[in-house]
Amino acid sequence: MACHLLGQVIFYLSGLTCTDENFINKAGAQRLASELGIALVAPDTSPRGLNVEGESDNWDFGLSAGFYLNAKVEKWKNWRMYEYVVEELPALIQRSFPNLDLGNASIMGHSMGGHGALTIALKNPGMFKSISAFAPICNPTQVPWGHKAFGGYLGDDQSEWAQYDATELLKTYSGVSIPILMDTGTDDPFLEKQLTPWVLEKVAQEKQYPLTSRMQTGYNHSYFFIATFMADHIQFHAKALGL
Ligand SMILES: *[C@@H]1O[C@H](CO)[C@@H](O)[C@H](O)[C@H]1NC(C)=O
Ligand SMILES: *[C@@H]1O[C@H](CO)[C@@H](O)[C@H](O)[C@H]1NC(C)=O
Repeated sequence: MACHLLGQVIFYLSGLTCTDENFINKAGAQRLASELGIALVAPDTSPRGLNVEGESDNWDFGLSAGFYLNAKVEKWKNWRMYEYVVEELPALIQRSFPNLDLGNASIMGHSMGGHGALTIALKNPGMFKSISAFAPICNPTQVPWGHKAFGGYLGDDQSEWAQYDATELLKTYSGVSIPILMDTGTDDPFLEKQLTPWVLEKVAQEKQYPLTSRMQTGYNHSYFFIATFMADHIQFHAKALGL
């Protein structure tokens, strides 16, 4: 095993309806991460316990649907999962585990969390060494999940939305090229209407950005799919982290 002074970290951001437990229980990531000496960090997907009126009326808005942004609409002012993942959580981890190298981490996620991993890394060049995503929402400003979430949390002014859209961010990205690995299932029921990986692929191609986007035949949106390709993703990050 490589001898690093500081331990390496991979963040994993979960999707709609998930808590921090889905990944821990179902993705099968721990064995390989342990072999490689990588710490996994898997936060929850929204604030909880605030009892905001209507927060659990929808499975794609409110609880478990933080969308990794900082809300602007007053009612949802506590929905600040962007700031949580970028600032509060790393600082908290660093205090508890000073032997982890949080300045050189990697990030991955699934669906809404894939959107989170892509946007958070592209908005903070240098913070992460590599990005990967399972079935990410690649262009949320143009799809129903994104319209609902961004309209609800950010308001009707669509000029506020682009800063949380991976495709829009990649178009204007000029930071260091962080390699991206994406896997999406051909039988994913959300593929055409919500995920649209081809839109991000097109921008990457135009910019000659290092994106590897793979379509996996016969797989759907579930954790069976994630567990199947998890080792590939961890190896991809391990390489970028110098392990
Ligand atoms: C990232 O790792 C390099 C060594 O590979 C180290 O010099 C640098 O300080 C680290 N960056 C941060 C922000 O910790
Ligand atoms: C997704 O595919 C798995 C088999 O890989 C199957 O067991 C599961 O029921 C499918 N999930 C949905 C929601 O269709």
